[in-house]
Amino acid sequence: MINVAIEAAREAGKFLRYSVGRVRNVETKQGEERNLVSEIDRGSEERIIGIIRHHYPAHGILAEESGTSSPDAEYRWIIDPLDGTTNFLHGLPVFCVTIGIEHRGEIVAGVVYDPNTDVLYTAEKGKGAYMNGKRMKVSSTSGLINSLLMTGFPYDIAENPGMAVDHFVDFLMEAQGIRRFGSAALDLCFVAEGRLDGFWEVNLNPWDIAAGILLVTEAGGAVSDFDGAPLSIYRKKVLASNGVIHGAMLDVLKKRPPGAAKNAAPH
Ligand code: IPD
Ligand code: CA
Ligand code: CA
Repeated sequence: MINVAIEAAREAGKFLRYSVGRVRNVETKQGEERNLVSEIDRGSEERIIGIIRHHYPAHGILAEESGTSSPDAEYRWIIDPLDGTTNFLHGLPVFCVTIGIEHRGEIVAGVVYDPNTDVLYTAEKGKGAYMNGKRMKVSSTSGLINSLLMTGFPYDIAENPGMAVDHFVDFLMEAQGIRRFGSAALDLCFVAEGRLDGFWEVNLNPWDIAAGILLVTEAGGAVSDFDGAPLSIYRKKVLASNGVIHGAMLDVLKKRPPGAAKNAAPH
């Protein structure tokens, strides 16, 4: 199955790269003016699903643009055909294709393909995580002051700021540095690779993280929700780290009691 995921991710990635600067029709999604989609997101998804269906017609699918099919199937392919849509639309080369494979509720394989660098990240449960075939390992950095962290912000942050800005400020005060690249799947790959030490984000969808969290854990890192509880890709809060700084990151996230958001936008 992982070879089919790789074939689909490479095929879709080739299409994305070719399509930079060739977008014809951009629309907003879910009534959110920052949440964009184009015919390229859909075209990428059609290519991926076509390849999966050719090999596994009875498997289930959860795909960002076309939704769910065969929800009771034993295997489910979880697909983001273009992670980093805003970057893509601006011609900023930070986007990817990501595909996770779930078996009876457990992520057993994941693939992320970055068409701009031609880097392929792969992981299978219990078999390690790889970057272009080379085994990956998370960093061994300790202490937030030595850690480079990554995050992202939801499209509807102006309407529903929650604690995203407060958490950003709190980490800014404690970490060596914070980055926001705009592709959650690649962010998680960078943690798995040891280029980043930690990542947190709220309001992500299963397709953003299904492959990435397996890459992090198979590379020796830790993932949880913001309370330290086991991560479900269907819940909205994701913390991923090299493991060493996980407790310190949880302490920062738990510092503010629920409902204590200070930096809410005025309505
Ligand atoms: C988005 C990216 C971004 C994250 C957003 C996601 P999309 O996915 O992963 O980094 O901050 O929350 O929705 O819309 O480009 O597929
Ligand atoms: Ca995404
Ligand atoms: Ca997407």
